[in-house]
Amino acid sequence: MFWLLVPLAYLLGSLSFAILLSRLSGGPDPRASGSGNPGATNMLRVAGRKLAILTLLGDLGKGLLPVLVANLLGLDIRQQAWVGLAAVIGHLYPLYFRFKGGKGVATAAGMLLGLYPPAALLALAAWALTFVLTRTSSLASLIATPLTLPLLAWQQPAALLPMCALTGLIVWRHRSNLRDLFAGRERHF
Ligand code: G3P
Repeated sequence: MFWLLVPLAYLLGSLSFAILLSRLSGGPDPRASGSGNPGATNMLRVAGRKLAILTLLGDLGKGLLPVLVANLLGLDIRQQAWVGLAAVIGHLYPLYFRFKGGKGVATAAGMLLGLYPPAALLALAAWALTFVLTRTSSLASLIATPLTLPLLAWQQPAALLPMCALTGLIVWRHRSNLRDLFAGRERHF
């Protein structure tokens, strides 16, 4: 079952809600405006609050669903984490959009919510606090994601390896944000 769920999770993760919703609404393509990222943050910049919230929910749901299904089918937490990671990889490198996807934060949040809700709550609190203080979505993501690792190492060590891989991928996908943050030209709200 595990080897069936991994590709299915990848195919689900490949559905980019930012791109699909912008097409359905006839709005601007998030890949061509704002930061160029097909994600909820950039949808808020270029398409407004309603589509940003729908993007957030869709991207979060596609991380959550495969983990819940894996759980229901009796897979252990280590396998659930790999299935969730496959969904995040789908978001980062989507089959349907020439492998050019987003940065994975909302999908990772959904995955974490299914896997171990206290870690998702910790990430949400860290994200919200950083965002309120700095008004910078990328910085909030870059702080919140690795913060979950010590908690997971302590409470869910079996999920640590896929979560380390996920954190590395998310940081890698934020490399242009990191450059802009260090250069003092990152976008704020
Ligand atoms: O979740 C994406 C966020 O961390 C950064 O998005 O559009 O500011 O590059 P953006």
